[in-house]
Amino acid sequence: MRVISFTPVNVTGELHMFGGEGTVIHADFRDAADELVSRFGGSARVVYLDPPFNTGGAFEFRRGKTQLAYRDSVPWDEHLELIRSAAELSKKLLKPDGTFFLHIDCSVSAYCRVMLDEIFGRDAFTNEIVWAYRSGGRSTRSFSNKHDVILMYRMSADSYFNIGAVGVPRGQKRRNHMKRCVDETGRVFYSIKTGGREYRYYEDDPVYPSDVWDDVEHLNQRDPERTGFLTQKPEALLKRIILSCSEEGDTVVDLFGGSGTTAAVAAKLSRSFVSVDSGAVASAVTKKRLLERCLKMRLYDANRPLVFELGQGSAGELPDLEKYFDITEKNGRFTFTVKRLSPGARPFMLSAGSVDAGVFTANAYCLDPVFGDGIKADAGKCVHLIDESFGEYYFVPGVEER
Ligand SMILES: C[S@@+](CC[C@H](N)C(=O)[O-])C[C@H]1O[C@@H](n2cnc3c(N)ncnc32)[C@H](O)[C@@H]1O
Repeated sequence: MRVISFTPVNVTGELHMFGGEGTVIHADFRDAADELVSRFGGSARVVYLDPPFNTGGAFEFRRGKTQLAYRDSVPWDEHLELIRSAAELSKKLLKPDGTFFLHIDCSVSAYCRVMLDEIFGRDAFTNEIVWAYRSGGRSTRSFSNKHDVILMYRMSADSYFNIGAVGVPRGQKRRNHMKRCVDETGRVFYSIKTGGREYRYYEDDPVYPSDVWDDVEHLNQRDPERTGFLTQKPEALLKRIILSCSEEGDTVVDLFGGSGTTAAVAAKLSRSFVSVDSGAVASAVTKKRLLERCLKMRLYDANRPLVFELGQGSAGELPDLEKYFDITEKNGRFTFTVKRLSPGARPFMLSAGSVDAGVFTANAYCLDPVFGDGIKADAGKCVHLIDESFGEYYFVPGVEER
């Protein structure tokens, strides 16, 4: 009798032949620190860190069912120690003309300011950016906390900074008591006369952001950017950071990558990236987010692959694959067709390709598998499954005579 069997393969890394070089590393940055320094030391134009805020809770990923993404409760000194290790490592990764950003909230900002002055030097302190937003409820017991703090440190006076890249058109705002006029070329401006002089403010002139960013809202529930990762930051925030402090071709690093916002924005702005996260959910969500864009935009480029590294290697024993798929074989070709499953029980992502020396190179994708979708693999080829609990499995299907 012919029986389809599956041989698990231990994979430590993935290559995807898409343009936009970037590396996503699934590891605790402290375990990977030496390797990160030897590979990327002195190469980052921007490091952005958005560590857990130590809220005392846990953060979830919501997709069909709710899944724990990461715990956010450690003793206070451990929390500060985590931020210190990340900042010290960041300093080693930055170029001499690079810039460091730490995104925190008011519960630790004062401590971090002192800590970062110590690590980078007081002269390196550049800005305390206040990201003010309106989302969420309002407290009646105290003033609601409606801002985060982003501390910015420059590695040197030569650190790259281009405010011109992040100007926003003045628009119709800031015209209090001013007269609206149109000049001879048709441009709209607001005019005020004082001391015998006329001051003109053109609607299409850029206004450069100050250190209070109140024009970037938190992602709302239905925002198309949303991945389901609860602490995901808006791309607009990262866009301002990356555009102002780096140029095309530069490298941007994030040691708390989460859902991959920094990586996604860096890729869109033609920067390369290194995104590290210790969470399996974060790693899988980042992978899907980056691949979705590459596939949609057909960014194939074998010379600049997207690299995913699995710090711990892939999971060992395979789950019951027939729970997910109807599996058939014809002339040495295997087809995995997704069964009718509730959204929370469906696999998170599928791909197929080949494995060489522990590295999986994908050539077929099914990024959001629903009933009837499938993936095919020829004999000897490998299938990659990220299941609904974010376990990553690689296996080679075969046929046995029993
Ligand atoms: C606030 S979230 C980052 C959100 C991200 N900026 C985004 O837009 O999606 C913090 C992330 O840090 C990760 N993390 C916590 N401790 C870590 C560590 N020691 N090494 C690497 N990642 C860590 C968590 O898994 C979580 O995904």
